[in-house]
Amino acid sequence: MLVSLALSASLVCSPVLAGPAPGHAGDKNAFIADLMKRMTLDEKIGQLRLISIGADMPQPRLLEEIAAGRVGGTFNSVTPAENRPLQDAAVRRSRLKIPIFFAYDVVHGHRTIFPISLGLASSWDLATVTQSARIAAIEASADGLDATFAPMVDIARDPRWGRTSEGFGEDPYLVSQYARASVKGFQGGSPAGADSVMAFVKHFALYGAVEGGRDYNTVDMSPLRMYQDYLPPYRAGVDAGAGGVMIALNSVNGVPATSNTWLLRDLLRKSWGFKGVTVSDHGAIDELTKHGVAKDGREAARLAIRAGVDMSMHDSAYLAYLPGLVKAGEVPMRDIDGAVREVLGAKYDMGLFQDPYRRIGKAEQDPPDIDAESRLHRAAAREAARRSLVLLENRAQTLPLKKAGTIAVIGPLADAPIDIMGSWSAAGKSGQSVTLLQGVRDALGASGRVVYARGANVTDDAGVVGYLNFMNWDKPEIVQDKRAPDEMLAEAVAAARGADTIVVAVGESRGMSHEASSRTSLSLPGSQDALLRALKATGKPLVVVLMNGRPLTLGWEKENADALLETWYAGTEGGHAIADVLFGDYNPAGKLPISFPRSLGQIPTYYNHPRIGRPYRPGEPPNYTSQYFEEQPGPLYPFGYGLSYTDFSVSEVALSSPAMARGGRIEASVTVKNTGPRDGETVVQLYLRDVAASVVRPVKELKGFRKLMLKAGEAREVRFTIDEDMLKFFNAQLDYVAEPGDFTVQIGLDSQAVRERGFVLR
Ligand code: BGC
Repeated sequence: MLVSLALSASLVCSPVLAGPAPGHAGDKNAFIADLMKRMTLDEKIGQLRLISIGADMPQPRLLEEIAAGRVGGTFNSVTPAENRPLQDAAVRRSRLKIPIFFAYDVVHGHRTIFPISLGLASSWDLATVTQSARIAAIEASADGLDATFAPMVDIARDPRWGRTSEGFGEDPYLVSQYARASVKGFQGGSPAGADSVMAFVKHFALYGAVEGGRDYNTVDMSPLRMYQDYLPPYRAGVDAGAGGVMIALNSVNGVPATSNTWLLRDLLRKSWGFKGVTVSDHGAIDELTKHGVAKDGREAARLAIRAGVDMSMHDSAYLAYLPGLVKAGEVPMRDIDGAVREVLGAKYDMGLFQDPYRRIGKAEQDPPDIDAESRLHRAAAREAARRSLVLLENRAQTLPLKKAGTIAVIGPLADAPIDIMGSWSAAGKSGQSVTLLQGVRDALGASGRVVYARGANVTDDAGVVGYLNFMNWDKPEIVQDKRAPDEMLAEAVAAARGADTIVVAVGESRGMSHEASSRTSLSLPGSQDALLRALKATGKPLVVVLMNGRPLTLGWEKENADALLETWYAGTEGGHAIADVLFGDYNPAGKLPISFPRSLGQIPTYYNHPRIGRPYRPGEPPNYTSQYFEEQPGPLYPFGYGLSYTDFSVSEVALSSPAMARGGRIEASVTVKNTGPRDGETVVQLYLRDVAASVVRPVKELKGFRKLMLKAGEAREVRFTIDEDMLKFFNAQLDYVAEPGDFTVQIGLDSQAVRERGFVLR
């Protein structure tokens, strides 16, 4: 009663619709129910529209659409000054004054760009992930944004898929941890916070399993694999309180996610209890006709709303057809009401009814310079970037380098301020990125000399350049050096010959690891391969700095580089962070969140694959075992792998008991010692193996990890508690159970080099 009085009063006296403070669910429900009573069908359908700024319609028309109550939210505008007039149109001109919300793809930073998610995942540090999301939320909300289409938590096991870069890797446990950590960071204490943004977990579901790694392709997957491996991260994001879910573009076992009632209603809402809003991905409702499940836009709209797609992104189908579908009785009003309730509920949870301008602020408070240096969080970005770097090789202690002599910084990615940001770099400005070249110069100062040569273009393939430049960037990103490849190479070799050490940055331009960037090869393009070989021939120490968004096949590099450092796309402060590692100001501790294959033909190579009847066993003849006879089995670099400038040893595993009672727990411990000369961090990883179960289980599964800093010579005991929940899995009936029997505990510093001990669940 109080609520509706407040509502009516606000309609009369205040220019904006004022709702109660977010918090009490009863208030929320009553407020929304009251508001919905006043809405016409068209106004309701208007709430279901999510408009892509710049793509869907010109600004003047957009303002009119908003004022007419035909827009629920927008995305792709990134400043308070852009968003203010849009919100004005909603809350001052529309009949019911319902605020709109503003979303954006804030995936790994907003103005300050943090490492790409795959890089952040290499930190094995939840606090780093939470903090990067928190800072992104602070920056995004200060730009008038209310929501982000993140975290992206699709499990990726086929690195041909360009969006591998956007996620946290191949492992259900690790990705789930990061899903939670990100949601926590984005939403802060509550999505209503003035410095919070609502997280939309994406892409629900199974997008990472597209056939052949071809983006947007189909997904066909057994229920066991789905439940065990691919669904947990979305669930973790939902359980962490994510206010939104974005629906995937792919089909799931024959039904597009966008029209998949089982996925959106039965699993997400009924089984998982999701209470937030769902949005389709870009144009996905219209695409139902291309999937061939809808004969036209009208049918597509019906299928989507019936399946549980609340908001349509960049689609016209809802606006065009829902009114008619409702009037014809083909879509029940309860489906429309259900969707509208979720959209209004999300706005309520964002705090927009209380204050539609809570993130936009007042015009007089707009930053005089939106790109001001003072708006960045460089120190945190540098720290996160350092933690995301993975040292793959370090022969004869090539690294760390001395801050002396002449260093030849070479390569098409050595001075590439756009690429170092990685794809989906939100409102990041390349002019504010620190490249590797800059980072090395800053670190060396006057104590050494830096010479630079580009050496090669990222690729000499004009077709690839054309494809990448066709992407949706502001301007063509790949600017080819017009010199002949031989001339560039000769310049680089000359620079290398005159130097003490070569630091060469190679990999992929950021567009190569992006949406719609599936590859048929995981090796370096020929131009860069030629560069590496020519530099190797100089005989100078060769430090290879990799910038890429997916595992690459690095057989030659592994054998020939003196040091190999995986830096992913390290973000705004990337160059400084990489230099910190190169010169030993920071001792690297990153670990791979995804396996690196030896060759393209070997994929998938994920570590936690199901057991099989004829496994290859090292030291035994390979014939009639499951492997490729031309190649050594196993990954080039395993999941969980990464070196340090110091060494660590791990003791045998001790168990508090050889048996666990039902509902009980045991402790597994090892002593980890820093046996090398420097202080350093490492990640102690706990894996479990179910020796025999009612269904085929993975060879091992990550179940815990601990990152710890040890001083040179220091030893510490690391204890993991193992409880019955950690032994649970989905059985053939999809019940989540622990079955009695034998288990193996494995503890080590990567997924392969482990110590193990068995116990039994009674
Ligand atoms: C992507 C989504 C993204 C959306 C909005 C789509 O193309 O698949 O991940 O959130 O665009 O930018």
